[in-house]
Amino acid sequence: MKCRVCNNHIEPFISFGDMPIANGFLLEKEFKDEYFFELATAFCEKCFTVQLVTQPDPNLMFHDNYAFFSKTSKSMQSHFKEFANWIIANYLKNKDPFIIELGSNDGILLENFLNNKIRHLGVEPSANVAKVAIDNGINTEVAFFDNNFANQALLKNGKADAILAANVMCHIPDLNEIAKASKKILKDDGVLIFEDPYLGDMIKKISYDQIYDEHVYIFSAISVKNIFAYHGFELIDTLPQETHGGSMRYVLCKKGSRNVSENVSNLIKKEKNLGLDKLSTYKQFKVDCELSKVKIKSLLKKLKNEGKKIVGYGATSKSTTILNYCKIGPELIDFISDTTPIKQNKYTPGMHIPVKPYEYFIKYNPQIAVLFAWNHRKEIENKEKLFIKNGGKFISHIS
Ligand code: TYD
Ligand code: ZN
Repeated sequence: MKCRVCNNHIEPFISFGDMPIANGFLLEKEFKDEYFFELATAFCEKCFTVQLVTQPDPNLMFHDNYAFFSKTSKSMQSHFKEFANWIIANYLKNKDPFIIELGSNDGILLENFLNNKIRHLGVEPSANVAKVAIDNGINTEVAFFDNNFANQALLKNGKADAILAANVMCHIPDLNEIAKASKKILKDDGVLIFEDPYLGDMIKKISYDQIYDEHVYIFSAISVKNIFAYHGFELIDTLPQETHGGSMRYVLCKKGSRNVSENVSNLIKKEKNLGLDKLSTYKQFKVDCELSKVKIKSLLKKLKNEGKKIVGYGATSKSTTILNYCKIGPELIDFISDTTPIKQNKYTPGMHIPVKPYEYFIKYNPQIAVLFAWNHRKEIENKEKLFIKNGGKFISHIS
């Protein structure tokens, strides 16, 4: 296959087998028509991006029933408030600034700009999540951000001081188009700021569940620097984040328009030490994933044989990769509780474990909860003090 960014020839280094749509929670009557594709990942030795080999049609993933609402987590709400304040303090110094957010979801980030009376535009392809933002007064258009959209937005609003994206850039297959459209729409001193799950964390934690249909890329500073350099952008800052089990915030601008922080060279040095620029690192990652799979599966089987009541906590997108790769179904996990109404009383994609409202977790009194929302461990352990006090255990494939 060819690299999606630089067209170099690349080979997959891991396949997770047949995979359904990660957020494709479904009803029993829909089982027979469920869509599967081969989830496999490749590494480009020229531009150093880790990317999916094939990705389902975007319309299968982002649609009017999109099951992912950002505001379900309290800690994410405070993260986005801090993120907005940081952008305002550091990058919105021009008079009457204007910002655009790609994939603005339910408005979790933009509401902070609205509250500060800053001109903003959210671009969100899933109508149901966009509606939540629109109902809250956030200026949002239901669309994919591409060249056409950039041209229209430019006519309507003029150039932007900042283009933002949170957990969205890694969803977009054609980054060359995004880079071109961003360059066109940004002011000369404008910035492109985005954050996404970080490859360094994924390799260190063996958190292979970051890999699913929506995440067409898992970025590192090395890859982001290269991808955007092709289009005249410069990576000027990198800031690690705790969100999504380890993320990185990247700041880019038109080359030469701003100073470059030493954070960038420091991080790239660390990435080279970790081997993120070498195929051998990814081959080792594959071995690590296989070991992780054997470990979690045998632990669950052992607990089940001991007669333990096992449930899952958080029907995350990530859990779809774990469950289908490790072949864990309702014979091991009785149900997964989740606070998102659109997922409740449906089944998990592929392995068909029932998803139940949070109240079921409380009433069922399980002994073991598989923490699929391990990225919210602190928030959840805090909330579930009683479960833990009563001897309940959270387990996860991430140690
Ligand atoms: P998220 O962390 O966004 O993971 P992913 O990107 O892999 O989907 O999703 C967290 C899921 O966990 C979401 O469906 C809501 C659910 N959840 C709970 O059920 N209870 C909680 O206390 C928290 C924090 C999340
Ligand atoms: Zn490449």
